[in-house]
Amino acid sequence: MACGMAVETFDARYAAWKAKTEELLKKVPERKEAFTTSSGIEVERLYLPKNPDEAYLEKLGFPGEYPFTRGIQPTMYRGKFWTMRQYAGYGTAEETNRRFRYLLEQGQTGLSVAFDLPTQIGYDSDHPMALGEVGKVGVAIDSLEDMEALFEGIPLDRVSTSMTINAPAAILLAMYIAVAEKQGVPADKLSGTIQNDILKEYIARGTYIFPPKPSMRLITDIFAYCSAHVPKWNTISISGYHIREAGSTAVQEVAFTLANAIAYVEAALAAGLEVDQFAPRLAFFFNAHNHFFEEIAKFRAARRMWAKIMKERFGAKNPRSMMLRFHTQTGGSTLTAQQPDNNIVRVALQALAAVLGGTQSLHTNARDEALALPTEESARIALRTQQIIAYETGVADTVDPLGGSYYVEALTDRIEEEAWAYIRKIDELGGAVAAIEQGYQQREIRKAAYETQRKIESGELVVVGVNKFRLENEKQPELLRVDPAIAEKQKAKLERLRQKRDNALVAKRLEALRKAARGTENLMPYILDAVRAYCTVGEICGVLREEFGEYQGV
Ligand code: 3HC
Repeated sequence: MACGMAVETFDARYAAWKAKTEELLKKVPERKEAFTTSSGIEVERLYLPKNPDEAYLEKLGFPGEYPFTRGIQPTMYRGKFWTMRQYAGYGTAEETNRRFRYLLEQGQTGLSVAFDLPTQIGYDSDHPMALGEVGKVGVAIDSLEDMEALFEGIPLDRVSTSMTINAPAAILLAMYIAVAEKQGVPADKLSGTIQNDILKEYIARGTYIFPPKPSMRLITDIFAYCSAHVPKWNTISISGYHIREAGSTAVQEVAFTLANAIAYVEAALAAGLEVDQFAPRLAFFFNAHNHFFEEIAKFRAARRMWAKIMKERFGAKNPRSMMLRFHTQTGGSTLTAQQPDNNIVRVALQALAAVLGGTQSLHTNARDEALALPTEESARIALRTQQIIAYETGVADTVDPLGGSYYVEALTDRIEEEAWAYIRKIDELGGAVAAIEQGYQQREIRKAAYETQRKIESGELVVVGVNKFRLENEKQPELLRVDPAIAEKQKAKLERLRQKRDNALVAKRLEALRKAARGTENLMPYILDAVRAYCTVGEICGVLREEFGEYQGV
């Protein structure tokens, strides 16, 4: 048992945790009566040190409690597996609807929409800027009509949907609410997430439209609107994924993501919101990369840091404001075009790291995604990878199984320490937005990316099948091809829509939005009215471009 002072503190805290967990179990029972190994050995819910010292409570504590290092739920995956949420979307709304239904039939437990680039940067499919990109890297959504087709036959009160949309996030959220209205589902029953994280777009991903100030206004408008009308909606998915994909280290991924999160919280407070009013619905999104133990330690460090930031820096009182709830996608940049079947193994190990790190939601990449969007077969294998980890390996049967490992705890501490140093530096530069405008994060990522590439070129960093264990004359696997004619289909659909809708009402709604954009009112109600009148993504973004201007980047 614990020695000295710690013993009653530890014992008291443990007893309280147990009592709280028993209460929770009455509402959310665990998946099984008992969890055992193949030899019939009972697997405990949580393993603890025999002699916990003071540091245990301060650094680790109990799952579902501050500082959440061991997970955000007291029972974690014994209560509920992570959401198996495959990112999907291509071609027309009808085609993507078919892929959504297929994945749901195959056991996926959450939806995740990939939009094509014209939608992501606010152009309709018939805009010159959309040439060659319509339906290519995601689904083409021009109006509420497309959104209705996208979710045809999918009850929005029974699924949670993530939408990877940033600059036009308010518009796609409004369309989702409008589709639900047509299904008879009130907004307060909707659960899901919009990525809505413009700062990482400036840093790494690039699908921004407006300058920082109006972008932050749109984001805090969504925070305010959802806390009042869509309470189960996660209003932002603060992303480290793309920062890592751009070549950052694991430490930079955590640090730059949390620094962006600090900027969002500060913007919401400056807009007059209360921290516990919006913070419980902030969510995160991280990469699961190749260094297995570093990734697990990264997730645990990020949870502890966020808990401290929210409690100590922002004075949050509600424990839900201090929980870092995150989605993980396995590292797209680790996929190789060579020997694509090897990617199944990479993805499985990366997915295992995400699970051992306590992710709430997971996307597993498909083996062929270094070459094209996934075929149905490779998308199925990617989903099965998650199902095998969940149902066959036993790793979901106890909470934070690697907690207490000398290596993992040391790595967790080290990642936390180095990430704090970056956050202090960004604070000195005036915060994340100011640092981005100075190009700080971008330069740090470029340096890290260069270093990695140099090691791959020299062979110091082995990429199996690429710079070692190569195969000559590999045959190309069967790949998904997006029908180029979809652009014509989308244009014809838009033409028909513009003829049949009430164009006087469209003009009125766009004018009302323009006036509101010039003022300080929350823009969500105006955007909702506009989408209900079948104003298009391009028309709405067009008004906002005229009023806010376009960001040219650094
Ligand atoms: N005991 C009790 N309750 C539990 C539990 C347990 N063990 N486990 C979960 N629950 C509860 C949760 O509390 C929650 O209830 P609440 O909403 O009332 O709190 C409910 O079950 C659902 O659980 P989660 O919220 O943990 O899981 P979700 O899947 O609904 O949400 C999320 C996860 C991370 C919070 C959310 O933001 C999410 O789904 N994010 C996904 C983001 C995403 O898919 N992004 C893809 C981006 S693709 C991209 O950008 C890459 C491209 O550019 C290449």
